[in-house]
Amino acid sequence: MKNMDRLFVLKSLMQHRHLKNYLEIGVFNGHIFFRIKSNFKIAVDPDFVFGNGRKAIKLLLNPYNRYNQYFEKTSDDFFAQDGPRLFQNKKIELALIDGMHECDYVIRDVEHTLNHAAPNAVIVLHDCNPLSAEAACSFKEWNYPGTWNGDVWKAILYFRSQRKDLTCFVLDADQGLGIIVKQPATTLLPYDKEQISQFTYQDLALNRAEWLGLQPSDYFYDFFKIGA
Ligand SMILES: C[S@@+](CC[C@H](N)C(=O)[O-])C[C@H]1O[C@@H](n2cnc3c(N)ncnc32)[C@H](O)[C@@H]1O
Repeated sequence: MKNMDRLFVLKSLMQHRHLKNYLEIGVFNGHIFFRIKSNFKIAVDPDFVFGNGRKAIKLLLNPYNRYNQYFEKTSDDFFAQDGPRLFQNKKIELALIDGMHECDYVIRDVEHTLNHAAPNAVIVLHDCNPLSAEAACSFKEWNYPGTWNGDVWKAILYFRSQRKDLTCFVLDADQGLGIIVKQPATTLLPYDKEQISQFTYQDLALNRAEWLGLQPSDYFYDFFKIGA
């Protein structure tokens, strides 16, 4: 059994679900982005942590990197300025959302991605399952370089409460891998945005499994009907 992390999930979905067109929001040094094999790869980050040297090395290691399109800007600016043109004819099939880990940003990133997504698209969110109040703090409170998951978990709770057209759950792997697909929800939680904004890390700790739809990592194979 492979160690399940975001790279494994993304690669498996590309291989077994034939998802190609890839968007990554929050790319950092390209640790994941440069490994993706697709001829339509979009990188969005206001602060890329790589230059031409690293790009050249990554091109040698993975020839698909010649197709990379880089947008060094916030995801909000990207969707406002570039999204409509870029995704007019090519819809997003696979996305990793891993930018600003604050609930409102994550909700916007997911909603904007959904607007340009194919019916069979899969959205993967990193950092959905913080294991301490420190890791779940706000960006302002973050004590760099400690782990920072922020309150991405509140975005998961929002989609599990408000979007009956979406299936949303979290795999218990790699700091919580959120999965969102355009498939009607089987159950909806009862919370609105205002209530969710008032919840604390302690509330999450008491309701973790239900609020996140937390699933063992092997559930990935069952849900997507992929042989382990
Ligand atoms: C955790 S890192 C991404 C790691 C990368 N996805 C990986 O898996 O290795 C988060 C990145 O989000 C970027 N970021 C912060 N605010 C953002 C925003 N508003 N839009 C897009 N990216 C943002 C940061 O510059 C940082 O590089």
